[in-house]
Amino acid sequence: MDLKETIYKRQSIRKYDKTPLDEETLNEIRQFIDNARVLNPDIEWSYDLVGVKNFRLLQRINAPHALLLFSQPKQNCFQNIGFIFQQVDLYLQSRGIGSCWIGAGRPRNYENPHPDHEFVILMVLGNPQGEIYRERTQFHRKIVCDISDERDSKLNPARFAPSAANTQPWYFTHNDDGTYNVYRNKRKFRLNKRMNLWNQVDIGIALAHMYVANPDTFKFTLEKSHEELKNKIFEGSFEI
Ligand SMILES: Cc1cc2nc3c(=O)[nH]c(=O)nc-3n(C[C@H](O)[C@H](O)[C@H](O)COP(=O)(O)O)c2cc1C
Repeated sequence: MDLKETIYKRQSIRKYDKTPLDEETLNEIRQFIDNARVLNPDIEWSYDLVGVKNFRLLQRINAPHALLLFSQPKQNCFQNIGFIFQQVDLYLQSRGIGSCWIGAGRPRNYENPHPDHEFVILMVLGNPQGEIYRERTQFHRKIVCDISDERDSKLNPARFAPSAANTQPWYFTHNDDGTYNVYRNKRKFRLNKRMNLWNQVDIGIALAHMYVANPDTFKFTLEKSHEELKNKIFEGSFEI
């Protein structure tokens, strides 16, 4: 299955076969990551693919591996991490390997080799226990009118994107020149700092789906004159 088809089949996997993936597969994953597209080339980032000894989760998920994701803390760094590693989520799932973004987790007994890169989030992975795919009708997602100023099926890839606690914090508007603006819904409870961070990762994830669905034409810019929308934060503009 290609990455574009995987958008409409993937799901977060929380039950795993504990057997680690073989070294060849792990190397292929590393190779995919090294060739993934970035959202912001001005931000340095790094990752490590580790086994169970090097990550800790606040919930019981028996995944044999995790990708620990780090970034320089600047500009749209969380969106950039979401953008890069959602391509990885789709790649893994397209190969039948289960994955799940995990906000409630940390590195453990792990020394970060890039001291100027901060830990952002992790993604667990491994062979799934049970069915990996689901049908399009089994997705719980907002309707397109709730995430856009116009009914536009071109936004479907973003609509199906995963997000922290399925909050789907994205909103799209259409510009006269055919480009789109993307906004993030402000949280009602500002105290929820972690969700604020994860929702920025979510924006990158939705943009990754727009890129994967339109790989030859997708272009993103952070700076563009735009309308301010109530209770929304401007996140950038893109063409497809
Ligand atoms: C940034 C982010 C953080 C997440 N954190 C967790 C988590 O800590 N625990 C968990 O079980 N799922 C977590 N998820 C998975 C979401 O709950 C899941 O993507 C969402 O409910 C939609 O379901 P789906 O991925 O199966 O489409 C996270 C997802 C994202 C994008």
